[in-house]
Amino acid sequence: MSADPLVLVIGGTRGTGLLTAHSLQRQGVPVRVFARNPQSARARLGPTFELITGDITQPDTLPPALEGATHVVFTAGCRSGRPTTERHIRETEYGGVVNTLAAAQRVGFGGRFLYMTASGVTSRSWSTAILNFYKGNTLVWRERAEHAIRASGLEYTIIRAGILLNRTGGQRALLVTQRPLPLSIRYRIARADVAEVFVAALNHPRAGRATFEVVWGDGPPRDWLPTLLDQLKPDAPADSYSPPA
Ligand SMILES: NC(=O)c1ccc[n+]([C@@H]2O[C@H](COP(=O)([O-])OP(=O)(O)OC[C@H]3O[C@@H](n4cnc5c(N)ncnc54)[C@H](OP(=O)(O)O)[C@@H]3O)[C@@H](O)[C@H]2O)c1
Repeated sequence: MSADPLVLVIGGTRGTGLLTAHSLQRQGVPVRVFARNPQSARARLGPTFELITGDITQPDTLPPALEGATHVVFTAGCRSGRPTTERHIRETEYGGVVNTLAAAQRVGFGGRFLYMTASGVTSRSWSTAILNFYKGNTLVWRERAEHAIRASGLEYTIIRAGILLNRTGGQRALLVTQRPLPLSIRYRIARADVAEVFVAALNHPRAGRATFEVVWGDGPPRDWLPTLLDQLKPDAPADSYSPPA
């Protein structure tokens, strides 16, 4: 961690982002949480976090949040498990990422942008078709968001998680792989485990410019998380990317 670390967590008001924010704070890392509704965020997070008000679909709210941040953890998305329109998905899960990348460039952000997405973005199956049907082509727009991140020139880590469960972390072995996994009930993981993967990836040298999947493996935990990340290889250089109209 650099001399004065400050991690901005976008999506830190609930779910995996909230768990990541708490884990970082337990380790003494200062955290700023980006919140659409600071009152309800304060009630959920408690008094010890810096909160900044903003919305990823409103570009002007992002540069102040990025000012002074050494790293960004981005877990925001349309609410898990709820159907929504393609317009809402496009504006939030694609537009929100593009707006954040643009704001990062505008303020001269030089840290790592760590992005949470889902298994299945590049491997089609019945499960991806069903999810895309009820949730506005979410995986299509998330694949485009990945392209935008790789082409941004920023240092990044893209973490694709399996199906998320609210379970206690640290109970199961983790499988970290750069082989694309299908979206499947076979590939699940606790949000608490994903949060620890974000924390471990924050400064891990092998996680820079890398995309990987994380799901539960078989049996109890075996490996120290940073050791699991030691096997990562950087992504192929990004093609130039033209945003969809
Ligand atoms: N469900 C799955 O199985 C699965 C699997 C892999 C990946 N994912 C993706 O992983 C991410 C984390 O999932 P999760 O279930 O742990 O989290 P979640 O409960 O869905 O929380 C989403 C977060 O995004 C924030 N957010 C949404 N729209 C926003 C906006 N316009 N501006 C600012 N913040 C916004 C929410 O803020 P508010 O508190 O204001 O609502 C919340 O903090 C999500 O992007 C999800 O789609 C899901």
